[in-house]
Amino acid sequence: MTLPLPRYSRITGTGSFLPSRRVTNAQLAEELAQRGVETSDEWIVARTGIHARHFAAPEVTASDLGFEAAKHALEAAGRSAADIDLIIVATSTPDMIFPSSACLIQQKLGVHGCPAFDLQAVCSGFVYALTVADSMIRTGAASKALVIGAEVFSRILDFNDRTTCVLFGDGAGAVVLEASDQPGLLASELHADGRHVGILCTPGTVAGGKVLGDPLLKMDGQAVFKLAVGVLEDVARSVLAKAGRQDADIDWLIPHQANIRIMQGTAKKLKLPLEKLIVTVDEHGNTSAASIPLALDHAVRTGRIKQGDTVMLEGVGGGFTWGAVLLDF
Ligand code: UT7
Repeated sequence: MTLPLPRYSRITGTGSFLPSRRVTNAQLAEELAQRGVETSDEWIVARTGIHARHFAAPEVTASDLGFEAAKHALEAAGRSAADIDLIIVATSTPDMIFPSSACLIQQKLGVHGCPAFDLQAVCSGFVYALTVADSMIRTGAASKALVIGAEVFSRILDFNDRTTCVLFGDGAGAVVLEASDQPGLLASELHADGRHVGILCTPGTVAGGKVLGDPLLKMDGQAVFKLAVGVLEDVARSVLAKAGRQDADIDWLIPHQANIRIMQGTAKKLKLPLEKLIVTVDEHGNTSAASIPLALDHAVRTGRIKQGDTVMLEGVGGGFTWGAVLLDF
């Protein structure tokens, strides 16, 4: 007898984790001043909306942060690690070249056997990972997935470059995504345009036992800003149309937390009041693939996002990559 395939996947638990060292703009400005790099709390707040970020201690890795977030998500879902049959980790700052951070987290969770892999789509990574997990659940390849975004961007920041080092932070977020006969994820869409590889990149690599090229993050902020504003509106509208929903059906918008101006601009274009915009960029900075699950978990735990709410998640970042997921929580 063939069992019917699950028609949907649904988030059943969220979790997140931030390293304990919180660095305010003023503290960062003071540290940078010692290197002769000039910035200020006023500039950072006015241009980005960021007030503080968290930095991991040198010995703490993305898999350490992802493991903690995963434990919280499992607890919220009422599941144990042994129930999980798929682990996907979205990260651009993995612990090692290989094995994947997903395999390291699987080992930390004390489970063995289920597929575990990393997915690299920079700041769109979580939306990509959620879409892949949803597809695997719908085809019956998995039934209970851990989808994690975990980053230690502090490792790849150039603290002599004030145009980038004030923007990013470390952290992790996770969800448990389960097969369900109720939606769940309603629609999603992913995109990439490799013509723009150079506007946001960490171009270094390892070869012959040496780091070749520059292993620190480079960004043409204005080029990224312009592209992000355009694609975030388009992809949200496309995903709404696929799901047969309207702008007004969105209860909560969680865009990638990179810059409050891009986020508010997107909300306005979708005619959403700013109260429906979940904002954590002020306290977390840009945590790349971790930013969306961190913001989701924060909104759930502070009682804003409730069961049944319709939530739009939107990622955008290096590659150039972008995508959106619309879901009923
Ligand atoms: O995670 C992937 C997605 N990433 C993003 O979405 C990032 C998108 N881009 C942005 O968020 C913005 O472009 C930035 C926040 C990166 C920059 O904001 P901006 O309003 O585009 O500033 P700008 O690059 O035009 O720079 C304005 C001025 C420049 O000085 P001059 O040339 O006008 O004299 C910069 O040198 O601000 C200066 N500046 C700073 N001043 C103090 C740049 N960084 C700093 C700084 N502190 N940290």
